[in-house]
Amino acid sequence: MFVVDTYTPTRVVFGPGRLNDLATMELPGKKALLCVMGDGLMEKLGIQGRVLELLKKNGVETVIYDKIIVNPVQTDVMNAAELAKKEGCDFVIGLGGGGSVDTAKAVAIMMRNPGILWDYASTGTGSRKPVKEAAPVVTISTTSGTGTETDPYCVITNEATQEKLDFAVDPIYPVLSFIDPELMLTLPRSLTLYQGFDALFHVSECYISNENSNRLLDVYSREAVEVISKWLPVVAQDGNNLEARTWMAYAADILGGYTQAIVNTTSHHIIAQTIGGMFPGVTHGLSLLFIAEAYYKKVKALRPQLLDDLGEFMGIKADPADPGQGFVTALTELMERTGVRHLPMSEYGIKPEDFRRIVDLTVDNTGIEWEKYTLTKDDIMDILKESYC
Ligand SMILES: [Fe+2]
Repeated sequence: MFVVDTYTPTRVVFGPGRLNDLATMELPGKKALLCVMGDGLMEKLGIQGRVLELLKKNGVETVIYDKIIVNPVQTDVMNAAELAKKEGCDFVIGLGGGGSVDTAKAVAIMMRNPGILWDYASTGTGSRKPVKEAAPVVTISTTSGTGTETDPYCVITNEATQEKLDFAVDPIYPVLSFIDPELMLTLPRSLTLYQGFDALFHVSECYISNENSNRLLDVYSREAVEVISKWLPVVAQDGNNLEARTWMAYAADILGGYTQAIVNTTSHHIIAQTIGGMFPGVTHGLSLLFIAEAYYKKVKALRPQLLDDLGEFMGIKADPADPGQGFVTALTELMERTGVRHLPMSEYGIKPEDFRRIVDLTVDNTGIEWEKYTLTKDDIMDILKESYC
């Protein structure tokens, strides 16, 4: 039989044009720290100015922290939290993609707790202190990928140790998330694809981890896999297609968050995050794509039925003669069709000599012992070798 366990306390404001509600919705404070990336894109696109205007209409003062980098780092979290405390901010807003929203969530922890962020990391070299409270978090998304808008996670890199770790604590569930697909129309094709596949992997990995236990998880995952496999090629073809952007945002930012709020993703994400921690120039979705094909070929013998289910959600009929191949076939077809199959790691500075460290950090430092199937160090080495080009 199945069970249901769920906790999704975020108020979601979703739909084209809904950013305007920022002027009238009840917000969790009077002075916000606004976290944005350091590339100036939000300002250039006019989104940052619009957000500031809407907040002003709502009677909220804003302080801006705009130095965040692609794989967000502990130093920025600490600097931003310091600024928020100095300026007397009572809540934090993440504007943009996963990098700025995750930074905002980590800043929320450090606005209400002493020490440094790594004191509260629960894996790797973290000190594993509990997080009992955080400042309220509001998110305004301009991407469809991480699901951070509706889940209790943030992923931050410690530059000193090269660790890229998850922080998963209930106080950083956003209290309010604005998901307006109109803000996603300008997203470049490459990022659209990397984030779209990131979203596909979240819901697929969660489906695998769940093993058909929590009924709601299966409902969310199936809907999201179907939506992404239908609409990702459309949005890759035409980034201005608002209907496609809307479906992708729904699957990634709402369903993707809900699934991750229920169960963990798999070691696919842990290996990819290790690569991202060691090579900060590699965006998250890209690191997942590097190893995806080889990873699922390895896992298909371990969870054949679940992988065949995922393949069927994507329109590929299972082949009893080759159990588990359904998802591998569906995935590689989607990667091929959108031009992201066989992406060369070598062009991003990753060398075969780095594989040993990737394997060791994945298994010994972050750890994958919680996973329900066993993937050995040799298996991970095989995946990396097979993926290399
Ligand atoms: Fe991810």
